Amino acid sequence: MKSEDYAQGDAFQAEKRAIFASQWLPVCAEAQIPKAGDFLSVTVGGWSVIVTRDPAGNVNVLRNMCRHQNMPVVGVPGGNCENFRCRFHGWTFDLQGKFLGAPPPVAPRDPSANHDLIVLPILIEAGIVFFSLDSFAPKPSLGAALPAYSGTIVTEIAANWKVVVEHLLEGRPSSDDFAWQPPLLALRRTGSVAIVEQIVPHTFLRTRLFTHVFGGEADGHKPIAEVFKTDCEVLQGGRAAGTMPVDDNALLSAFHQEVEKAYAGIS
Ligand code: FES
Repeated sequence: MKSEDYAQGDAFQAEKRAIFASQWLPVCAEAQIPKAGDFLSVTVGGWSVIVTRDPAGNVNVLRNMCRHQNMPVVGVPGGNCENFRCRFHGWTFDLQGKFLGAPPPVAPRDPSANHDLIVLPILIEAGIVFFSLDSFAPKPSLGAALPAYSGTIVTEIAANWKVVVEHLLEGRPSSDDFAWQPPLLALRRTGSVAIVEQIVPHTFLRTRLFTHVFGGEADGHKPIAEVFKTDCEVLQGGRAAGTMPVDDNALLSAFHQEVEKAYAGIS
């Protein structure tokens, strides 16, 4: 790995195609959208998606890309609505992505063509919603069921997503209490509490961390998340200055090999 892999957009674009487009990606905890009409808009590894709970109670993941001019339909991080109205020219879509209509001046020339938002394959594993752009990707498995969902802490980190992964895996021997689900999710169990750390690579220098708490008090984990954020931002400064990580365990080593393999595959 080189310092530019942590600090430049070219590497992120390569990762978008070679890593994120070929794996199941976690997008949120299912319990974050409990009611019909609830939605979240998230960009994961450069892929902008909307997660919805439709009136039938089902979860959907839609590409956040209007069929009119390929612009993002939703521009807010989340909320509750009956349908989506594209903020650019007013095309509307239901919570399953079905095209509902458009103002006459911008109506589609061919009304019989498919104008629906692209619906992505999803699966829900241990309360976490995953989507994939490649439905043949190996499916994630998080093992035994988790305790009841308590809440999610959202932490914005000014660091490349790989730094966040490295900090999660550093010094981590593989054990029954810690499961790594490449490329973006870790699960650790402590007694009756399970913590799912979900990494959301937003841009090459902005990463969101969802800390989903199952079976405990979510707010109690906020100070830990703040320390984690500070550590990652310090590490990011080191990577940009050329201080590279040391593979101190099998998980970290395998992660770096996968990233290098992805870079090699598209060069
Ligand atoms: S880009 Fe969405 S309505 Fe025009």
